[in-house]
Amino acid sequence: MNDHIRPQPGILDIALYEGGKASVAGVTNIVKLSSNENPFGPSDKAKDAFQRSVHQLHRYPSTDHAALRDAIGETHGLDPARVICGVGSDEIIHFLCQAYAGPKDEVVYTEHGFLMYRISAMAAGATPVEVPERERTTDVDAILRSCNRRTKLVFIANPNNPTGTMISAAEVERLANGLPPQAILVLDGAYAEYVEGFDAGAALIEARDNVVMTRTLSKIYGLGGLRIGWGYGPKHIIDVLNRIRGPFNLSNTQLETAEAAVRDQDYVAKCRADNARMRHWLAEALAELGVPSDTSMANFVLARFASADEAEACDTFLQSQGVIVRRVASYKLPHCLRITVGDAASCRRVAHAIGQFKGAK
Ligand SMILES: Cc1ncc(COP(=O)(O)O)c(C=O)c1O
Repeated sequence: MNDHIRPQPGILDIALYEGGKASVAGVTNIVKLSSNENPFGPSDKAKDAFQRSVHQLHRYPSTDHAALRDAIGETHGLDPARVICGVGSDEIIHFLCQAYAGPKDEVVYTEHGFLMYRISAMAAGATPVEVPERERTTDVDAILRSCNRRTKLVFIANPNNPTGTMISAAEVERLANGLPPQAILVLDGAYAEYVEGFDAGAALIEARDNVVMTRTLSKIYGLGGLRIGWGYGPKHIIDVLNRIRGPFNLSNTQLETAEAAVRDQDYVAKCRADNARMRHWLAEALAELGVPSDTSMANFVLARFASADEAEACDTFLQSQGVIVRRVASYKLPHCLRITVGDAASCRRVAHAIGQFKGAK
């Protein structure tokens, strides 16, 4: 440590984000169900666009992302002028904290909320405020009670990760209505596409000037490795975020692949239907093994065990069988394992392995 060169206060308090494990030493034939990825990958149209983009590698990309924003606007019925694109929705979350929260400001999120809210708040020098959930579900009253004159941002993911639970549009509206005037409500819709007919809060955004949503191509679109996300909100907020966005934050390859992916809604519908079928199958199979879960609206199931010890032992056994799921102790759920809904073979494999674990106990 150099005594003279120091980061901004609070930066060294940030705990490093740990992604889902991808391998187990000495074990082959792995099935990775730890990062909520689409087991089928991206659509063929997106892959073709990715390959075509190789011819543009020497060109700088567009700085305004107009073609991708138009595709998003047409697909979702949104105003493309109020769409902002980023390196994953992580980057949009980061822009929001950087632009709106600083020292002495508070950034509110829920007890089992996505870890990047805390990290981005602390990176901006703001104070993260964690609010209890009720039965692993966002509690609007608890959030409203925690807000004060210092609250600048309130993040909720709907559906939430890692719980998979969701609150109604009426509850989200009640939250937006109850916030102090200087606070922005951020609706994180990373898993919104998994919910049939869900607008992720778009109608509320149109009706108000203090609500933003973030979306990603990392989940149902199967493009987590390429890093593309977007945000939508009132003009006054998107204008601010664009001022701190790097002009070339997305490459031609990201932009062109994302545009083709967004325009291929048949593929999204197919993945949504496959996921719903296998999610139901997996949750039932786990329940029969004595492992309950809340009704999930996303592409994962949060399996609850009797204790943290049992969850840990099950995780260790699954890894020995080449099945990688996610431990969620860092989300204050030490007795749970989050299991991504894979293809039929992967779902059968994880259920079989948990059955062996339960039987062996
Ligand atoms: C709730 C939630 N929000 C945002 C993200 C970030 O997604 P990305 O940066 O890949 O778009 C994730 C990824 O796991 C997530 O679960």
